Amino acid sequence: MNDETMFAAGVDEFGPASTLAVSRRPVPEPGPGEIGIDVTYAGVGFVDTLLRSGAFPLWTPMVPGIEVTGRVRAVGRDVEGFVVGQSVAALLNDFGRGQRAGGYAQVAVAHHTMAAPVPDGVDLRRVTAAVVNGVTAWVALHDVARIDSRDRVLVLGVTGGLGGTTARMAALFPARQVIGVVGRDPDRAPAACTDVVVADALADELDRITPDGSVDVVIDPVGGPLRATAFEHLAPFGRHVVLGNAGRDDRPFSGDETWLATRTVSGLSIGGVAHLRPATCTKALTAVISLVARGILDEPLPAVEPLENAGKVHEALENRTAPAKTVLSMP
Ligand SMILES: NC(=O)c1ccc[n+]([C@@H]2O[C@H](COP(=O)([O-])OP(=O)(O)OC[C@H]3O[C@@H](n4cnc5c(N)ncnc54)[C@H](OP(=O)(O)O)[C@@H]3O)[C@@H](O)[C@H]2O)c1
Repeated sequence: MNDETMFAAGVDEFGPASTLAVSRRPVPEPGPGEIGIDVTYAGVGFVDTLLRSGAFPLWTPMVPGIEVTGRVRAVGRDVEGFVVGQSVAALLNDFGRGQRAGGYAQVAVAHHTMAAPVPDGVDLRRVTAAVVNGVTAWVALHDVARIDSRDRVLVLGVTGGLGGTTARMAALFPARQVIGVVGRDPDRAPAACTDVVVADALADELDRITPDGSVDVVIDPVGGPLRATAFEHLAPFGRHVVLGNAGRDDRPFSGDETWLATRTVSGLSIGGVAHLRPATCTKALTAVISLVARGILDEPLPAVEPLENAGKVHEALENRTAPAKTVLSMP
C-alpha cells in the first residue's frame, strides 16, 4: 500500500444496505500474479448484498463488488499478456486466496487468471453486466450441466441478473426449449425464453408446455418451493444445478428421489471455481467477452448508477424491485 487514496463504497461493519457508504480508502497495489485496474464500471449482483450483510465468513472493512471493467493501471510480477492502458474485464470473487472483492472502487486488483482483455470499441457497460453472470452461466451450462440441443432447460429467477443471462446463454448453445420462471411479471422475462411461466403456476404450466411435464436441466439461483417443484419435474438423467438462494429458503433434496428417479443434483460457486480451477474461469471469461463483443450474447444495457447510489441499488435488490442488472460508474 502507498499513501494514495481513492473513493470506494464499502462497510466498516457488516449491516443493512444503509451502511454502504462512499469514503476514501487506500489504493490497492497488485502483488505477484495480479493486475491493478482503473475501474470504469463495477457490476452489482445479489451476492454483493450477502457480502455486505456478513452472510459469508469474511471480515471488515469490506468493499463489495466482484466484477469490474476498466483499464490496466499496473501489472504485478510474473504477469504476462496485460499492458498498462489496456481495456479489461475481471472477476474479483477470489476468496480462496485471502479476502478479495473490492469492485466498488476507483481502483481494484484482480488475479491475472480472472481477467481478460476487452477489444477496443466494445461497450463496457454490457461487458460489465455479463462478467459474473456470463461466466457462471457458461460454466453451469457447459461444464456442469453439459447441455445439448435436445435439452429442455428450466431457468428459475429469469427476471434477475443471473437467470436472465443464463437463459440467453442456453438459447445460444442451443437448448431445445428455454423455459423462464418469473416471480410475478412475465413481461420482464428475456426474449431468449421460448416459454415463460409464473412461479405459482409452475407445475401446471410444465404439464402444458412440455410433452411429458418434465425438463432435462434446471438452473436454480432461487431455492424455496420453486426448487422443490422444479426438481419434481426433472426427467431421468436430468441435471438440477443449484446456483444460489435468492429466495433465502434453502430447500434440501431427497436422496431417495434423486436415486429412484435417476437425477443429478449439482452445485456451482464461481468463487470456488476461481481459486480451485482458475483456467475454467479464464476460458469462460474469454468466451463471454467474445460473445458480448460480437453481439452474439445480446446482453441488454444495464442501468447505470453513480457509486454513491450503491446502497440504494442493494436495497432494491433485496426488495425485488431492482432492474435485471445495474452497474456503478466511478467518480
Ligand atoms: N453460483 C454462483 O457462482 C453465483 C453467481 C452469481 C449469483 N449467484 C447467486 O444467484 C442468486 C441470484 O443472483 P442475481 O444477482 O441474479 O439476483 P437478482 O438479480 O436479484 O435476481 C433474483 C431473481 O430471483 C427471483 N426471486 C427472488 N426471490 C424469489 C422468491 N422468493 N420466489 C421466486 N423467485 C424469487 C427474482 O424474481 P422476480 O423479481 O421475478 O420476483 C429474481 O428474478 C443469488 O443467490 C446469488 O448469490 C450465484
